[in-house]
Order: sequence, then structure tokens, then C-alpha cells
Amino acid sequence: MSNKVAKLTLDGSAEPIDLPVLSGTLGPDVVDVGGLTAKGYFTYDPGFMSTAACESAITYIDGGKGVLLHRGYPIDQLAEHSDFLETCFLLLNGELPSTSEKEEFTNSIRYHTMVHEQVYEFFKGFPRDAHPMAIMVGVVGALSAFYHDALDITNAEHRKLAAHRLIAKIPTLAAMCYKHSIGQPFMYPRNDFSYSENFLHMMFNTPCEEAKVSPILAKAMDVIFLLHADHEQNASTSTVRLAGSTGTNPYACISSGIAALWGPAHGGANEAVLNMLYEIEDESRIEEFIARAKDKNDPFRLMGFGHRVYKNFDPRAKVMRKICDEVLDDLGVENDPLFRIARRLEKIALEDEYFIERKLYPNVDFYSGIILQAIGIPSSMFTVIFSLGRTPGWISHWNEMISQPYKIGRPRQLYKGSTQRDYPKK
Ligand code: CMC
Repeated sequence: MSNKVAKLTLDGSAEPIDLPVLSGTLGPDVVDVGGLTAKGYFTYDPGFMSTAACESAITYIDGGKGVLLHRGYPIDQLAEHSDFLETCFLLLNGELPSTSEKEEFTNSIRYHTMVHEQVYEFFKGFPRDAHPMAIMVGVVGALSAFYHDALDITNAEHRKLAAHRLIAKIPTLAAMCYKHSIGQPFMYPRNDFSYSENFLHMMFNTPCEEAKVSPILAKAMDVIFLLHADHEQNASTSTVRLAGSTGTNPYACISSGIAALWGPAHGGANEAVLNMLYEIEDESRIEEFIARAKDKNDPFRLMGFGHRVYKNFDPRAKVMRKICDEVLDDLGVENDPLFRIARRLEKIALEDEYFIERKLYPNVDFYSGIILQAIGIPSSMFTVIFSLGRTPGWISHWNEMISQPYKIGRPRQLYKGSTQRDYPKK
């Protein structure tokens, strides 16, 4: 515990207010402003640009240095040596599993992949052309109807079961969203497949034909899930924490995280990348779009570039770029016009003064969008895949919060509306 104190002097106050300064194991010190309310002040920080909303031991990011650690382990090492399910275990439990723990965890996930048969009925109510994220928000939220009464969130074993169910069932629901959109029968999960193989099987196989899943594509899928597994207190994770702070059902919390993820400034960016590449249409038009991105009077931004936290290269993008090359090479599509546009765009933006000055590098979504497109996953499903990958992060943060003393999240405001006035007499 640090003995540092920040002194805040406000106009008109005789004495400065002492604010304790807290130190984490890594990262900047944090000024504890909790005591300010008693002195009649709130702090003001729209967009939480400099506000730590909680204490956490799960993930650490140093955006300036391009560092991302899960429970202390660098993301590139996890991508190289671990796999998605092992990383889920790490996020949830704080340590890498032993061989037997990993087997037990993998089996638990494998045997929770089926969804209740009644869930199938929900899909019938959604229009065929509904956005899959709209369906995901609905069907993941609907899981709370199946697992509510028997769930006591103060019981660690109950929370563990909810975590396993969510990690296991979200791929099943995600693939069902896709099958619904193309009018094909849903595929039941297969217990003899790995997590990622099973997902690709449920996405692309049909009862008429069960093709073998390519190991390179299954590996790429696994790395995409792993690279999205957690990202500290981002908008969707903060949403899950805020929703969870009321003591609500965890499936409903995760559904609120999925809703927050959907937006183009967050998880919707990988879909927006593909839409942008289609809009550019031809390599000859790249300069025109770069000029639009720089024009302050044009709201257009280069999708898949820039990040709120990484003002250096996104370490996940480094790994994803390599996987992207492998997948395009494996599928023999590196000369596809769309991928050529992507490559040229990346090169031009990396050399352009505007992007260099503002530290706008390709982010993880730039490459994941390209990989998913090459695998044959439609762009409307990209954010669904992000939500699948992010599920262990959301649930780990929810679990971390519920396991400790916590308060309902309740931000304050700087009120700029009308002062009190009387209702006009008629
Ligand atoms: N294209 C063109 N200009 C940009 C871009 C972009 N993609 N991103 C930021 N800028 C400019 C912006 O106009 C501003 O310029 P100036 O200083 O001259 O006013 C400067 O760079 C700083 O931008 P900002 O909006 O203050 O930065 P931010 O940290 O608030 O926003 C961001 C981060 C990710 C929302 C933004 O970079 C963006 O909209 N990127 C495109 C969408 C995208 O790819 N999002 C995915 C993020 S990664 C996935 C995730 O972790 O959720």
C-alpha cells in the first residue's frame, strides 16, 4: 500500500483535500477520488479517459508500449504456446491448468455445448435477414430464462457452472445464427471435435454432407478466439460489470456485453472493415478513401485503424497479421482483388504522415476481418465471432467482481439542464 497522497486545492477551500494514491503491480498510480463526494464534489471524465472503475488482476495493457498480458502472460506467447480453452481457464482461474485440470475443463466445455431444445423455437421468431448480433443479444439473454431459479450467484460453484455453460453454448448459438440466416438446418455440436473444429463444423457442415474441417483454418479460428479473449475494462466488459453490479443473472449480463460490443467503434469494426473494402472496390480508389479519412469535414474513418488504448502497434494485430498470411496462402486467395486492396491500404496508411503522427496502426479487427472473409464467414457474423472470443473475458470480470465486496455501479453527472421551474398555469 502506497503512502502517496495527492493534494487537491479548490478555489475557496481553506485546506487542500488529501486524496490517497493507490499503486498497482504494473501501470500508473491511481488517485482515489472516492472521498470527494463527502466534500461536495464529483469528478468529471466523459469517456472514462482517465478513470479506473475497478481493481482487477486479470489483464494488463500498456498501450504506449504495445503490451497485453493475461494473468501476466504476454499475448504473443499465449498465441504461440497455448490455445483458446487453456486461455479461458487461465482468465477464469488466474493460473495455467495442470494436464488433468485442462482435460477436466475441456471435457466440461465439451459436454455443455448443446442448448435446450426449446431455444430452437426462439429462432423461428427472428426474421431471416435479422442481423446475427440482434439474434445473439436475444438468444444469449434468453439463456437466463433456462438457468435462473437454480442459480445462486454468491455460490462459486454456481458461477463456475454458468461460466462453463456460456463458453460452451455461445459457439452453438453463434453457428445457429448463421444457419438461420441462410435457411439451413442447425447442426448439433460434435464431442469428438476440438472447440474450433466443432464451431466450423456447426457453421459449414450440413446433415447431407459433413466435410472434414481444415486444421489450418481450425487453428486460425482458435487463435482469433484467443486473441479476443479479454481486453481489460473496454466498453463491453465495463457494461457486463455494470449490469452485474446490480446482482442480475450472468446470462443477461453477457447479453448486455454483446449489445455493447455490436457498435462499429468496438466489436463492429471488423465487419466495418469488410464493408469499407467492398466500398473501395478497386485499388485505384484507395487514395480517394485515404483523403476522405484525413478530411475533418468528412465523418469517414479508415475502419480497422487506430485504437483507444494502443498508441503503438496492437500486439494482437502482430499475431493476427501472421495468421492472415498463412490463411490466405493456404486458401490460395492472396491475389483476390479484395485482399489486394487490404494489403495496399495497410501499406499506404503505414507510410502516410497523417496516420504516423496520430499513431493510427492497423488494429486486430483489420486482420481478423480479412481472415474471416477468406474462411468464408460472412461479414455480418464477424462481431458474433468476436463475442464468442470475448465471452471468457466478460465472465472472468463478472466473476472477479462478484467474488469480492462490490458496490452497484452508479456514475454521477455534470447537470447542464434547466434549473427548477414551475409548471405553467393553464
Ligand atoms: N481514420 C482516420 N482518422 C482517425 C482514425 C481512423 N480510423 N482513428 C482516429 N483518427 C484520428 C481522429 O480524427 C483524430 O484526429 P485529430 O487529432 O486530428 O482530431 C485522432 O486520430 C485521434 O482520434 P480519436 O477519435 O480521438 O481517438 P480515440 O482513441 O477516441 O478513438 C477509435 C479510437 C478506435 C474509436 C478510432 O481510432 C476509430 O474510430 N477507429 C476506427 C474504428 C475501429 O477500427 N475500431 C476498432 C477498435 S479495436 C477493437 C476493440 O478493441 O474494440
